[in-house]
Amino acid sequence: MPADLSPIDKAKFAAARRAVDLIEDGMRVGMGTGSTAAWMVRCLGERVREEGLRLQGVPTSTRTADLARQVGIDVVSLDEAKWLDITIDGADEFDPELNLIKGGGGALLQEKIVATASDQMVVITDASKEVNHLGGFPLPVEVIPFGWQTSRALIEELLESMDVLGRQTTLRLNGSQPYVTDEGNYIVDLHLNRIGNARQLALVLNQIPGVVENGLFIDICDMVIIGGADGKVEIRDINEGSVSNEKIDFAEDDNIFADLD
Ligand code: 5RP
Repeated sequence: MPADLSPIDKAKFAAARRAVDLIEDGMRVGMGTGSTAAWMVRCLGERVREEGLRLQGVPTSTRTADLARQVGIDVVSLDEAKWLDITIDGADEFDPELNLIKGGGGALLQEKIVATASDQMVVITDASKEVNHLGGFPLPVEVIPFGWQTSRALIEELLESMDVLGRQTTLRLNGSQPYVTDEGNYIVDLHLNRIGNARQLALVLNQIPGVVENGLFIDICDMVIIGGADGKVEIRDINEGSVSNEKIDFAEDDNIFADLD
């Protein structure tokens, strides 16, 4: 492992490295988006190349699709795969029930569709994403460009009656222009600070015309793997009610880092 990898990247790598051990020959695998998911895609690619693992990978963004092809993973669409054995993705926040905020990387729509179409969703993360209450991270809401300002106004009106601490909203930008998702939509970020009832908020946001999806993932995640910079990983399984601890040996993974510039 390169010595200059940051502690956060080491932690993300450890979680990703452990998660790909869950993948078995012939599986259909949802592949998330973001820096942690990118480590997972690289680790998965290594297993494909080294072990001849056969799998079909369904990416949640064009970024992930490009990386997956680059590392030798057979990329198929969700419609081709139809149903997935497992999805592995990062998250922006997770709470004690393994409910999530996602979409910091702008891929929440495809991520939610893919995760929901999977027997199992596994989140890979470093410890900084753990919270008691969701909402410290701005909640992304994907809206269609047509009439987006009206959708935003309706979101703000809705927030008046919601159990949240902050109510500011911002249009996500890419430079001076609106950020555009893979689906051609905009993202409005909600600065809520603390969400009292995430389940209710997730449901009512999606009732607003123009809202395509929101970044609250409720009852979707089955397992969280929390990596540490020292290679320690904690695995929490919400269905089993179990917590286990293991350690990743970074020395075994030099091939993955050999490709990095
Ligand atoms: C992308 C996401 C990511 O999973 C989330 O933003 C975490 O990213 P990272 O692994 O880079 O911290 O939801 O839409």
